[in-house]
Amino acid sequence: MTRPDNHVIVLFGATGDLAKRKLLPGLFHLARAGLLPDGYRIVGSSRSRPSLSDDAFRKHAQDAVATFGRCEPSGPAWQTFEESLSFGAADAQDPGPLLAAVRSAEDSLGGRPRRLFHLAIPPSAFASFIGMLGDTGLAENSKVIVEKPFGTDLASAQALNETIHTVFDESRIFRIDHFLGKESVDNILALRFANGLLEPIWNRDHISHVQIDVPETLGLEGRGHFYEGTGAFRDMIVTHLIQVLGIVAMEPPVSLAAQPLRDEKTKVFEALRPIEPGHVVRGQYEGYRGEPDVAPDSPTETFIALRLEVDNWRWAGVPFYLRSGKNLAQQREVITLGLREPPLRMFRTDLRRQEEDQGNKLVIDFGDPGWIAARFLAKEPGPAMQLTPASMTFRYARSFCQDNGLEGYERLILDALLGDQALFTAADGIERIWQASTPLLENPPPLHPYAPGTWGPDPAVNELIEPHQWYLPAVGEDAIDRPAGGSPHG
Ligand code: BG6
Repeated sequence: MTRPDNHVIVLFGATGDLAKRKLLPGLFHLARAGLLPDGYRIVGSSRSRPSLSDDAFRKHAQDAVATFGRCEPSGPAWQTFEESLSFGAADAQDPGPLLAAVRSAEDSLGGRPRRLFHLAIPPSAFASFIGMLGDTGLAENSKVIVEKPFGTDLASAQALNETIHTVFDESRIFRIDHFLGKESVDNILALRFANGLLEPIWNRDHISHVQIDVPETLGLEGRGHFYEGTGAFRDMIVTHLIQVLGIVAMEPPVSLAAQPLRDEKTKVFEALRPIEPGHVVRGQYEGYRGEPDVAPDSPTETFIALRLEVDNWRWAGVPFYLRSGKNLAQQREVITLGLREPPLRMFRTDLRRQEEDQGNKLVIDFGDPGWIAARFLAKEPGPAMQLTPASMTFRYARSFCQDNGLEGYERLILDALLGDQALFTAADGIERIWQASTPLLENPPPLHPYAPGTWGPDPAVNELIEPHQWYLPAVGEDAIDRPAGGSPHG
């Protein structure tokens, strides 16, 4: 595979939560796998700890990799990686230390390495940092990775895009959504477009509804400040789940190159109907208002379920149900395509509605490493024509060696180094999603409380999806599914 050109990678927010959990461990994994450029340097930068020394940053990185990484920070691979790390305080008003650190990193590489800036900082700081990159000349010969959320509504997303475009043209902007870097999300493209089996039925004639379901058992994890201003809709739906919807619903692109792939995804977002507040259920877990950095009367939702409609020839009339929330009963990432049921009269079956509902589905579990299952009804052995739910399952972990697998962030950072924007989000796509979200943002439905460890506000969330049911297959088993959550509707 092509290796990226030599690079100096500058990590803004290098002592933050994302860098600790994902970015530093991910960069080390890429280095160890031989996927980083021959010559690379990583300059960490942080506003909260401006006086960090190079050594202290190396120690910080080592702790992060030891705690959250897939490989031990030791041996020659770690030594080489550690030597590539340095620190330069990031202050948009006084860029001197950062400039010095970047120059020194470039000198040590020689030649004219490219620059990659990763803005793992709060959105409120984007504009000043982008301005600083432009004013100092650091933006030359560079690309920028921008973290979500890309704005909080249409106007702020447009303003943000405008600000970034004053310094970087669109071809150098990488708006990152780590769900799009997940192997099993990428595999949806292979599943749909490399096989003759499914594409003929991938439309409104055969699919009755689609669920994209990402419940989390995780709570705030110390991110109260971030979450208060964000909430479940902006944290998960506008970014991750609608991006996944884009991949599930898109038309076949002419190639998997960045432009055609992004164009097809954007067309799906263009076909999104404005989100009706009446098709949305918002919840907040009991105890949220007592969390650190959370207002005692916080209106922020920690749960959201909604019905979206993609109004085009392929999908008109097929509801897409999206659900995500904190402190729920399970941690899952599952797409379910419900197939239209044939009449079962000839079987004179006594299947209960619940069992009947377990056949006729395609289930894609995209929690790494992920699996795909076709659920159907089969004849139970015996003299009578007795139907029972059955399943054919493909499991990544059983079918392929996982050694070359990359996590979402790793894959996307590598793509950004290579300059491949295929899995990154385009400005027009983002703005279109915010535009469709405007009715909901302007007129949010009331918050329902829910108990932690449950499936969110009952019965509202189950009523939303009627006549269907929320469906989650059993965790990690080939076993026939149980309905999620123990309630008749899951
Ligand atoms: C992040 C959200 O983008 O994605 C978190 O801010 C969420 O709230 C996380 O928990 C989920 O991603 P993953 O890949 O860790 O399941």
